[in-house]
Amino acid sequence: MEVVIVPDAEAGGELIASAIAGLLARKPDALLGVATGSTPLPIYQALAARVRANTLDASRARICQLDEYVGLPKGHPESYRSVVLREVVEPLGLTEASFIGPDGTAEDVAAASSDYDRALAAAGGVDLQLLGIGTDGHIGFNEPCSSLASRTRIKTLTQQTRVDNARFFDSLDEVPHHVITQGIGTILEARHLVLLATGEAKAEAVALSVEGPLSAMVPASALQLHPHATVVIDEAAASGLK
Ligand code: F6R
Repeated sequence: MEVVIVPDAEAGGELIASAIAGLLARKPDALLGVATGSTPLPIYQALAARVRANTLDASRARICQLDEYVGLPKGHPESYRSVVLREVVEPLGLTEASFIGPDGTAEDVAAASSDYDRALAAAGGVDLQLLGIGTDGHIGFNEPCSSLASRTRIKTLTQQTRVDNARFFDSLDEVPHHVITQGIGTILEARHLVLLATGEAKAEAVALSVEGPLSAMVPASALQLHPHATVVIDEAAASGLK
């Protein structure tokens, strides 16, 4: 695992955008796995700025989702499909045709989950998976105690994660209780994992993931198992490291 400490979130966004630009130069139709939440926004802004400035051609890139709320109606502005279309797909000049994600509106969530694992494999696997980290160490929505070998499936959000995500909704009551998330085993199949963490609130989770023992209690510690994992953190998120 490579750990890179950057001065701030913007620098982290630029660094990771450069890694993605390098990947797209080598493989224009790379499958890029994206995360939602606040942390990756500087990456998406840096990529969009490069596309606008004609210094990045992302026109053949393919995008896939890490996770999705269960039960939000199709087109809900906070469904992760809507967020990824708004923050990534449209700014990069792509269309929905270049995008795959799990169906959080499916009646049969278990079938939708395994369908998604199959769709990722059929697409050739994820070339670079962006990850954020929860204050409890989750990646995707694999909360503590998730199996390190887990596949895409339904998970129940912890109360802490619902509280953390309530800022995107009008009230805590509106935050769904369930999600479909790529499993830790699914995530580990991506060829390159890039986790960005910024801010002091992530410092403890980062320290446990990077320096602590491999543990299902800290799902992000699974990155220690991956042959090509890069953890990009700002100084505040690095403040818990020895
Ligand atoms: C979102 C996701 C989550 C977030 C994490 C951090 O798709 O997979 O693991 O990355 O909850 O969220 P932020 O960046 O909002 O602190």
